[in-house]
Amino acid sequence: MARTALVTGGSRGIGAAISKALKDQGCNVAATYAGNDDAAAKFTEETGIKTYKWNVGSYADSQAGIAKVEAELGPIDIVVANAGITRDAPFHKMTPEQWQEVIDTNLTGVFNTVHPVWPGMRERKFGRVIVISSINGQKGQFAQVNYAATKAGDLGIVKSLAQEGARAGITANAICPGYIATEMVMAVPEKVRESIISQIPTGRLGEPEEIARCVAFLASDDSGFINGSTISANGGQFFV
Ligand code: CAA
Repeated sequence: MARTALVTGGSRGIGAAISKALKDQGCNVAATYAGNDDAAAKFTEETGIKTYKWNVGSYADSQAGIAKVEAELGPIDIVVANAGITRDAPFHKMTPEQWQEVIDTNLTGVFNTVHPVWPGMRERKFGRVIVISSINGQKGQFAQVNYAATKAGDLGIVKSLAQEGARAGITANAICPGYIATEMVMAVPEKVRESIISQIPTGRLGEPEEIARCVAFLASDDSGFINGSTISANGGQFFV
């Protein structure tokens, strides 16, 4: 039986690779995006994966969007909370707006994405919740007080959900990507990026597909005993 998967931020970057990997694994996939209509249309044209537009920072929008996905594709079995943004600034320059935007999308967005699908997963006694955290939630990062706080918070969400969902056949796990070759990392000033790459023992950025393969593994029916875990995929840059 084909599983239905929802991937937030699923039309670009790491999310696009995840959407494609889950489709290749036989899932019906819905990919959400926040604003870039052209990229979403191109993604659907190239992959055949349906895209849905909503702001994960809004509970009402998430609830309505998820209801639409479930009406069109069926009950969601796999949810990948991947949507994330950066608003980097040294702490003394960080504005309350930069703090709030990142909290709304990266942290509250995970609540808004998982909460509406959770009762259905409990009823059907199956679910896979996968949250894309970050190496910077594990180690902190200069200019990312906001982002690191949300990504560390994601780990708390997953470890708690793992305990609540276990008896209902639901697993919740996190992946902490290191620096991956996406637009987000390419937006970092080149000199800073070069210095980051020099700190990665493998000597290169990761590829989105290297994260997508971790997600596909955790999303499979066979991974039921892996629950509450964090997979670090960072080229050896940081060990927990
Ligand atoms: N460690 C220590 N000091 C650092 C530093 C670091 N990593 N990065 C910058 N600094 C220092 C600079 O050398 C500079 O010092 P001086 O004033 O003595 O010269 C100071 O901090 C920066 O001051 P600026 O006023 O120039 O800073 P700015 O307001 O222009 O901000 C920045 C610049 C936003 C920090 C920019 O350098 C930047 O974007 N850095 C990258 C941050 C980063 O790594 N973000 C990760 C994005 S990718 C991602 O988030 C995905 C993921 O999950 C891995």
